[in-house]
Amino acid sequence: MKVFITGASSGIGEALATEYAKRHKNKNIILGLVARRSEHLQNLKNALENTYNIKCAIYPLDVRDSKALATAADEFIQQFGTPDIVIACAGVSRGTLTEHQEDITAFQAVMDINVMGLVHTFQPFIAAMRATGHGQLVGIASVAGVRGLPGAGAYSASKAAAISYLESLRVEMAASNIAVTTIAPGYIRTPMTDVNTYKMPFLMDADVAAVKFVRSIEHKRRFVVIPWQMGWVAKFMRFIPPFLWDFAMKKAPYKPRLNWDWL
Ligand SMILES: NC(=O)c1ccc[n+]([C@@H]2O[C@H](COP(=O)([O-])OP(=O)(O)OC[C@H]3O[C@@H](n4cnc5c(N)ncnc54)[C@H](OP(=O)(O)O)[C@@H]3O)[C@@H](O)[C@H]2O)c1
Repeated sequence: MKVFITGASSGIGEALATEYAKRHKNKNIILGLVARRSEHLQNLKNALENTYNIKCAIYPLDVRDSKALATAADEFIQQFGTPDIVIACAGVSRGTLTEHQEDITAFQAVMDINVMGLVHTFQPFIAAMRATGHGQLVGIASVAGVRGLPGAGAYSASKAAAISYLESLRVEMAASNIAVTTIAPGYIRTPMTDVNTYKMPFLMDADVAAVKFVRSIEHKRRFVVIPWQMGWVAKFMRFIPPFLWDFAMKKAPYKPRLNWDWL
């Protein structure tokens, strides 16, 4: 089995890589791991190879760089063959407010990473998957993409775009027997949510979430919210009219506009 995962240096991506390694311990599994921080990737590769006796290949790159992803995909395919599953998990979340001129760069970065990052990740694998006659593309969206969250305009917009993009892709890929799975997590305990000072309902540990993510991928779910309780919240969010949404969000906490060094 071959799985290519972006955002593997931390949080959900790292937990997914670990869960695949655990499940396929001592078996013929190859993991392609992508993120910007190469030392984190190297540490994860060493840990997974030594603990689970599997093989990892690392690709330190920025998902905004389509050429770098194309080269990584090419190298992976040449060396190991076409992956069975490609998981686009890399993403960023920061509070943004439109009235601040300096937030424009943040809006751009969030959209580039969370939306174009998906396209850059999947594009170089599609021809190879078509040639093998199977494959699965998995995009990590968010419940935040279901309605616009105040203080997180960039993030909500990027995840709404991700949900629609993945839906288009799912229909486009169906005739080629390439499955597309959209996972919309609620709150998962990772460095991304560690900065939140507000209460996060149904917060789930990343390793627990990863087991559920992998199960949903195995079942080739089209769209799934994890944890399931957030699935009901998301259904309700989608259904209520704008005036009720505005009322419900009146006192909603804002994601901090912190740390500009991540760009
Ligand atoms: N945690 C939650 O509650 C939650 C909820 C809904 C959706 N999500 C989504 O789940 C995904 C993973 O989030 P997480 O919670 O695991 O956050 P995280 O711990 O901050 O991990 C984010 C991952 O994305 C990578 N990444 C960020 N920008 C990148 C770039 N430009 N190029 C390449 N890699 C990049 C990071 O690696 P480097 O920094 O090393 O590049 C890191 O591996 C994201 O798409 C996020 O939006 C999370």
